[in-house]
Amino acid sequence: MCGIVGYIGKKDALPILLDGLRRLEYRGYDSAGVLVLGKSANLAKVAGRVDDLEKEIAKKDFSGNIGIAHTRWATHGKPNKANAHPHTGCNKNFYIVHNGIIENYKELKQELQKNGHKFSSQTDSEVFAHLIEEEFKRYHNFEAAFKNAIARVRGAYGVLAVCKDDKEKILIARKSSPIVIGVGKDEYIIASDISAILGRTNNIIYISDDEIAVCENNEIRISNFKNEAIGKKVHKVDLSYKQAEKGNFDTFMKKEIFEAPEVIKNAIRGRIVQEEGTVKFGGLDDAQEKLKETKRIIIVACGTSYYAGLLAKYWFEELACMHTDVELASEFKTRNVVLGKNDLVVAISQSGETADTLGAVLEAKRKGALTLGIVNVVGSSIARETDIGIYNRAGPEISVASTKAFISQATVLLLLAIFFARKNTMGQDKGREIISEIENLYAKVGQVLGQQKQIENIAKKYSKYKSFMYLGRKYNFPIASEGALKLKEISYIHAEGYAGGELKHGPLALIDKNFPSFCVATKGSAYDKMLSNIEEIKARNGKVIAIATQGDKKIVKFADDVVYIPKSSEIISPILSVVVFQLFAYFVAKYLKKDIDKPRNLAKSVTVE
Ligand code: M6R
Repeated sequence: MCGIVGYIGKKDALPILLDGLRRLEYRGYDSAGVLVLGKSANLAKVAGRVDDLEKEIAKKDFSGNIGIAHTRWATHGKPNKANAHPHTGCNKNFYIVHNGIIENYKELKQELQKNGHKFSSQTDSEVFAHLIEEEFKRYHNFEAAFKNAIARVRGAYGVLAVCKDDKEKILIARKSSPIVIGVGKDEYIIASDISAILGRTNNIIYISDDEIAVCENNEIRISNFKNEAIGKKVHKVDLSYKQAEKGNFDTFMKKEIFEAPEVIKNAIRGRIVQEEGTVKFGGLDDAQEKLKETKRIIIVACGTSYYAGLLAKYWFEELACMHTDVELASEFKTRNVVLGKNDLVVAISQSGETADTLGAVLEAKRKGALTLGIVNVVGSSIARETDIGIYNRAGPEISVASTKAFISQATVLLLLAIFFARKNTMGQDKGREIISEIENLYAKVGQVLGQQKQIENIAKKYSKYKSFMYLGRKYNFPIASEGALKLKEISYIHAEGYAGGELKHGPLALIDKNFPSFCVATKGSAYDKMLSNIEEIKARNGKVIAIATQGDKKIVKFADDVVYIPKSSEIISPILSVVVFQLFAYFVAKYLKKDIDKPRNLAKSVTVE
């Protein structure tokens, strides 16, 4: 969602803030703004990108060693200059940047307006600046005013505030919206996302909910609302900013698709016990006894992570014979999901900050369930809130469209299925067999990536169509849905993912010569039925692109175009097929000249409900 950066130290703040904003642009990017406190308060805001902001600032004096900056993804009010952050109050003494949503902003705004405050934006965030101003009238102290203002706000926030008349500190508060502090030499860089900090320092302090931090020159103080001091560990984070650079690729999405083999290797590294045909996870050690008792798995996630969960359901059921439900996190939170004593709630999230998934985790914990997080971003909220966890180790994923994270989630979930299966019904030999398939997976994914030219040609041919059907059965149904999501996200083409068996129950009515279908017809238990689906489509003049298994000659008589994936067991083949879908979506979007890494209306991490 929106991105926040703050700097206080001995260096010129502006270049550090702009650099940080650029690295955060992938999170939210309809407007941007920066404030630097120097001799005066220098403020610039634009509707547009960070480059536009830089142009706006050119030739102005923005020197100063303390500042705050923001990239915005509009929630309340249009993406225009007035609504861009930083916001200030009437006397232009206090400035804030805010991520999240203030639920009681209407009441607060009315009250402040009655007290004479004039608002200049339609945002909920501006309320913060006026509230601090109002509280300052009472306390005559920036910190006290900030704490009392925060105490009056309901909702989600990651907020940074500075004061023109008190240039020695940045005040920070957090509730359900991530904030991390980079501790450099004589400087602090505060951000909503670690990628804005990497490269300057790897020493990170994670701020938790309901904590207030004060960053001053050479000192950081963290407390709770009762003014009790909180001691915080400085974590050494093993990430480099290089991992978040495009390298020779034209987009992050393409780079990330091509990282799939590496991602698989990282996901399995140190987790396989080949001789026992099983799997171990360091992050589950603390709960081995409880995990033995697990009777039902409930997976909660959103978007791509949800489809990874849906795929895992097939594995948990088939391999581990475990009752598995998969829930959209947003629905799980609002329904009264009945949880039993031996239920395990597995939350899947690349960012670890998705508000709905985090909300579902908290709800599951309230109901007493054991929670397990499968998360990519180390130290993120979901990673910290869940009882036990497994990291994806996929490295930073920058493109809004998730690709390598899905591959790593699927790999980890398959390992987790083996972990449970070996505790339940699966024998050692079967365990070894699947594990050796997983160990060969990265090389096979490499072969699929090697077919990029052919997939590009098919994408070019089909990029003129306005709607697509994606079909798969059994393990391939979840990835058909994921394939459709990828296409619609970055090319804005309508695409629907369906289970092949559902075709005749309605969607077939859509099929004609203008409505092509992408069918996963790889060898396995659903192969013949998928061929029947393809025949049904062809009989209605629909075009068909098929994903098939190498060596399948029959398929060419059925489909208009075929992409082959290497032979593998049907359990594993969806991880190969999904790479075809990712490349197809990428090339279609490229031919349509879309902004692939930053699709319209979307943000990388959805930290509001
Ligand atoms: O960070 P998360 O995995 O929790 O994010 C969940 C979804 O917002 C995310 O997968 C979204 O659907 C992607 N843009 C899909 O490419």
